[in-house]
Amino acid sequence: MIQEPTVSVPDHDADPEPEATRRDAGATESARANRGWWDRNADEYQTEHGTFLGDDRFVWGPEGLDEVEAELLGPAEELKGRAVLEIGAGAAQCSRWLAAQGAHPVALDISHRQLQHSLRIGGGIPLVCADAAVLPFADGSFDLACSAYGALPFVAEPARVLREVHRVLRPGGRFVFSVTHPIRWAFPDEPGPEGLSVSGSYFDRTPYVEQDDEGHALYVEHHRTMGDRVRDIVSAGFRLVDLAEPEWPAWNSSEWGGWSPLRGNLIPGTAIFVCERD
Ligand SMILES: C[S@@+](CC[C@H](N)C(=O)[O-])C[C@H]1O[C@@H](n2cnc3c(N)ncnc32)[C@H](O)[C@@H]1O
Repeated sequence: MIQEPTVSVPDHDADPEPEATRRDAGATESARANRGWWDRNADEYQTEHGTFLGDDRFVWGPEGLDEVEAELLGPAEELKGRAVLEIGAGAAQCSRWLAAQGAHPVALDISHRQLQHSLRIGGGIPLVCADAAVLPFADGSFDLACSAYGALPFVAEPARVLREVHRVLRPGGRFVFSVTHPIRWAFPDEPGPEGLSVSGSYFDRTPYVEQDDEGHALYVEHHRTMGDRVRDIVSAGFRLVDLAEPEWPAWNSSEWGGWSPLRGNLIPGTAIFVCERD
C-alpha cells in the first residue's frame, strides 16, 4: 500500500560519490538501480522541479511544451471518459491534468517514493508501483497511454515496454511518449557552452552507468538512436504518426540539468513519439 510521505531529509552527503562510467547494464540491473535511485532522489526531484511541472499540468519536457497546446493525445474534449495509462508517472502531475479533462487515468511508476508524492499532492489518482516492462494489466485495458520522460530513457529493452503498452491498449489506441532527444547523447550533459561541442559518438549505445565502489549500478540511462526508436515502435506493432521536436520557447528561462535556453535554441532536447495501434 502506498502511503503519503512523512517529511524526512536523507543525508546524501554521507553517501560516497558514485563513479560515472559507460558499461553494459541489463534489464534487471537497470530496473533495480533506477528504482533505488528514484526512491532516494524523489524528494529532491519534486522540490527542484515540482513548481515547473505544476501539480496538475501535463508538461512533455524541460522545454515546457504543454499538452493543452500540443494536443498530441488528441483534442482535450475527446479525452473525457477515456481510460489512460501514464507510464513512469512520477508524482502523476500529467494524470491529474487528464483527470481534470474527465479521463480515467492510472499512474504507474517503478518508484514507490515518487508515487508517494502523488498522494502528497492529492487528487485521488489510482497508483500502481510496477516496472513498465511487465505491465500488470489485462490485454486491451486502456484507450490511451502516455509517458513524459518516464521509464523509456532508463530501460535496457525499450521494445519490451512498447510491446507491453501495445498489449494493454485497445485497437485504435494511441501511445505518446517523450524521451531525451537522441542527438543529446553525443554532447556533454551540461547547460552551458561546454554542452555544445560533440564529445562522443551518437552511435555508441553503451549505457551511462553510475556505480558504487563495488561496481553495483546506482543509476542507468540507455541510449537509442532515432532509427532505433522508430524500429522499436514499428516492431512492437505501432504506426508512428508524428514525431515532435519542441523548440525552446522565448518565455522559458529555466535550466533543467543539461537543458537550457542556450542549448535549446541550437539543438533539440526532447523527442516526442506519437504512436497508434490498429
Ligand atoms: C524523469 S521522471 C518523469 C516523471 C514525470 N513524468 C515527470 O515529468 O516528472 C522518470 C520516471 O520514470 C520512472 N521509471 C524509471 N524506470 C522505470 C521503469 N522501468 N518502469 C516504470 N517507471 C520507471 C522513475 O521512477 C521516474 O519517476
